[in-house]
Amino acid sequence: VNIGILISGSGTNLQAIIDNINEGNIDGEIKLVISNKKDAYGLVRAEEAGIETLYLDRKEFSTDEEYNKKIMEEFTKRDVELVVLAGYLRILSKEFVQKYKNRIINIHPSLIPSFCGEGCYGERVHKMVLDYGAKITGATVHFVDEGTDTGPIILQKAVKVEDDDTVESLKEKVLKIEHELLPEAIKLYCQGRLSVEGRKVKIID
Ligand code: GRF
Repeated sequence: VNIGILISGSGTNLQAIIDNINEGNIDGEIKLVISNKKDAYGLVRAEEAGIETLYLDRKEFSTDEEYNKKIMEEFTKRDVELVVLAGYLRILSKEFVQKYKNRIINIHPSLIPSFCGEGCYGERVHKMVLDYGAKITGATVHFVDEGTDTGPIILQKAVKVEDDDTVESLKEKVLKIEHELLPEAIKLYCQGRLSVEGRKVKIID
């Protein structure tokens, strides 16, 4: 399966995918990594892995729709079938989500539907978990639909919130789970083992 990946930051999730492909766990090939941030370290990780990269500056486009159209063009040129958002912080256009229906996978650092949605991303998620006094948190991998963090859930895994946890310690615990779940979901997709019926994702054994 040809994979296209969107990033905005350090790319530790991207690295986990690269490592799993290299270990033969995922029957897929990353054809292109696009970042909306020029200094995203994930671009370096991709280049070091010999993967084509592209930085797309949002300011060079008149609208979000034009920006998304360019992304779709680049992915279509490379016959990308599966799109992965690995720490990508921009919203996708309706056209994009419709074109790749149930073929865009996102990772979110909480147990959706808790601590997610507009403006709830990155370290803010862990701060909200701590401020709320939640006893467990975790990560969610889901297909992307028109909403923010609202698409059908593929995999989730929980971790306990300890009394002495900080944003940093929680982020570390959750990232470890992310680095397990995202490659696992991509592996299952590439094996054709994910079946989506409405909101429900079933894993075919
Ligand atoms: C992390 O907050 C992760 O939970 C979320 O995106 C952020 C960056 O992750 N998915 P990465 O290290 O760039 O993969």
